[in-house]
Amino acid sequence: MLQTMEWKNKSLLLLNQTLLPNSAEYIECHNYRRVAEAIKRLEVRGAPAIGAAAAFGFVLGARELCNSYDFWTGIEEVAEELRQTRPTAVNLFWAIERMLSVVNKSDKLSDLTDLVLKLEQEAIAIATEDREMNYKISQYGAQLFNEPVSILTHCNAGSLATAGLGTALGVIRQAFSEGKINRVYADETRPLLQGSRLTAWELMQENIPVTLITDNMAGWVMKKNMVQAVIVGADRITLNGDVANKIGTYSVAVLAKEHNIPFYVAAPISTFDFSMESGFDIPIEERSASEVANFAGISTAPEGVDVFNPAFDVTPNTLVSAIITEYGILKQPYNEEILKIQQKIKGVL
Ligand code: MRU
Repeated sequence: MLQTMEWKNKSLLLLNQTLLPNSAEYIECHNYRRVAEAIKRLEVRGAPAIGAAAAFGFVLGARELCNSYDFWTGIEEVAEELRQTRPTAVNLFWAIERMLSVVNKSDKLSDLTDLVLKLEQEAIAIATEDREMNYKISQYGAQLFNEPVSILTHCNAGSLATAGLGTALGVIRQAFSEGKINRVYADETRPLLQGSRLTAWELMQENIPVTLITDNMAGWVMKKNMVQAVIVGADRITLNGDVANKIGTYSVAVLAKEHNIPFYVAAPISTFDFSMESGFDIPIEERSASEVANFAGISTAPEGVDVFNPAFDVTPNTLVSAIITEYGILKQPYNEEILKIQQKIKGVL
């Protein structure tokens, strides 16, 4: 399994996911601006990976500011620039808040090099915890299957989208190793093809049987009983259990309901937005028209056509059969289950 990111010699190495599957090249980020650029360009993508990359970007920003006249204003600017990269995945904001809380807890008169060291430890902890959360999610998720199934997934919620095994693909990896997965159907995931370029590639690396389909084939695949479950990742889950994920996820969930197929979501707690009641309020990123009107640099639509290109959609909790977290498997009523987890985190339960 190729590492999505590596903190090496005080720089961040990011596997350039825009080049996959044709070449595996790492980008060396020596400053936070390059990290911000990589997140914007989707060179690093997937909610947990964006969060961890931003945390390391924050460390690079802090180190740069050590010799500046005003570290304290500068670091807020670094945080804001990183926040502005992508709006939907809440892991980004969660990771930046974690980094800022280290800054805010520190004594303003203490040595800044010590603070940068603490920030580096925090970023490493974010990545390490993500790996551990992925592992637990995989173990819990595999328990959902009693007999071998074929399963459909959308976008890429694999190791490329996290610092570890992946969320949805982590569950698939574990279930496959237990003999519970026959085959994975990967939606290609228009317009940027995270399903075909990344998920199909990731699974093939490990000899997990995978069949690529275009997004508009999912309904027919279900109708023909070729899949018995769906599993996806998430970019933000609200208190009522609504799930924002890659555009097209909502359609897959509606299709799964029509065909009586369970629709599972796998996500760590860093993907939960405890400040938001429902998915209605989740900011949905809209991306450039060129992603839809062009394919591999070739125009596929009349020049100047109006395009709508939301990068995510929201699946209402009523369509979600279960949410797999590192705390276990959540079922309806999600608002009660999510509240319990929030209290556990706060140490109330
Ligand atoms: O635009 P992307 O590629 O960052 O979108 C990624 C997704 O939608 C993933 O499914 C989600 O982040 C979960 S990753 C574990």
